[in-house]
Amino acid sequence: MAAEDISQNHGTGQISCNLDVNHQMPEVIGTIAAVRSRISAVRKDSEVKMGFVPTMGFFHEGHLSLMRAARSECDFVVVSVYVNPAQFEPTEDIDAYPRDFDRDLSLAGSEGIDLVFAPGDDEIYPDGHETVVVPGSVAGDLCGRSRPGHFSGVATVVNKFFNVIQPEIAYFGQKDAQQAAVIKRMVADLNIPVEVRVCPTVRESDGLAKSSRNSYLSVEERAAAPALYQALVAARQAVEAGKTDAAAIKRLMRRTIGQNYLVEFEYARVVDPETMKAVKIIDGPVLAAVAGKVGQARLIDNLIIQP
Ligand code: PAJ
Repeated sequence: MAAEDISQNHGTGQISCNLDVNHQMPEVIGTIAAVRSRISAVRKDSEVKMGFVPTMGFFHEGHLSLMRAARSECDFVVVSVYVNPAQFEPTEDIDAYPRDFDRDLSLAGSEGIDLVFAPGDDEIYPDGHETVVVPGSVAGDLCGRSRPGHFSGVATVVNKFFNVIQPEIAYFGQKDAQQAAVIKRMVADLNIPVEVRVCPTVRESDGLAKSSRNSYLSVEERAAAPALYQALVAARQAVEAGKTDAAAIKRLMRRTIGQNYLVEFEYARVVDPETMKAVKIIDGPVLAAVAGKVGQARLIDNLIIQP
């Protein structure tokens, strides 16, 4: 079988995907009406377990791991590719967000995805659109501090996708732990009939969490970026060695990140993994979470740690 090597420098060194050019390309649909009718046709004749993976495209192994999880337990898998303007702050440059739709389609095809939903802005936010989901305290701290409108934008668009696709199971990455917690809270609070699966963070060999934003990094910045993960590992070691004072763990993470002058520290927190509320004494599983800016890229990472 003919195979094509699609390689792309994501600023993280070469990422190469050996793509089979003969694989089935997923069906691509851009409108809500067409998705609804396709999905009702799929559901008409048999009981179908529908899986859904929301994304903003520019796929890396993190996205593909969610698709694989969906493929392994669902009959029909829908992936959305939509760079959602509502979740970008006015100060953030949405036009600079990396995109490569053709490559995304090939990769989705090689993961056996059935349908890619790729709407335009007019489809998602037509004139007159004004209703939004406003998450509660779960969205207030961590990334919610520096990006105050972000999680409302995320929750709104994900809720819209849930209403259009009506999946049985939806897949999210632990990499964005607060996002997953916001979605779980929304699903419970608004009685949305979907199961939320949270899949493990996929990392580069030096620990850096895979992210579309890693493509912004220069060679020097890429070398500095694992400082975030190293801070989390230091936190885990300290907690496993018996440290229970969250304030001391936060200081340790901050110090570890600060050792690298290319990383501009944003936060280090120790929180409850579901509510995202600050923890003072670590006596059970907690989420250690960090954020920092490396060059143009704002990077986040987290680990669940326990005594
Ligand atoms: P995006 O950043 O494209 O991420 C899509 C999904 O991939 C999210 O659930 C994210 O947590 C997951 N993901 C990203 N990097 C990962 C990694 N290294 N390992 C495992 N999973 C990873 O998150 C969004 O898009 C958007 O906010 C979205 C939910 C699509 C709403 O617009």
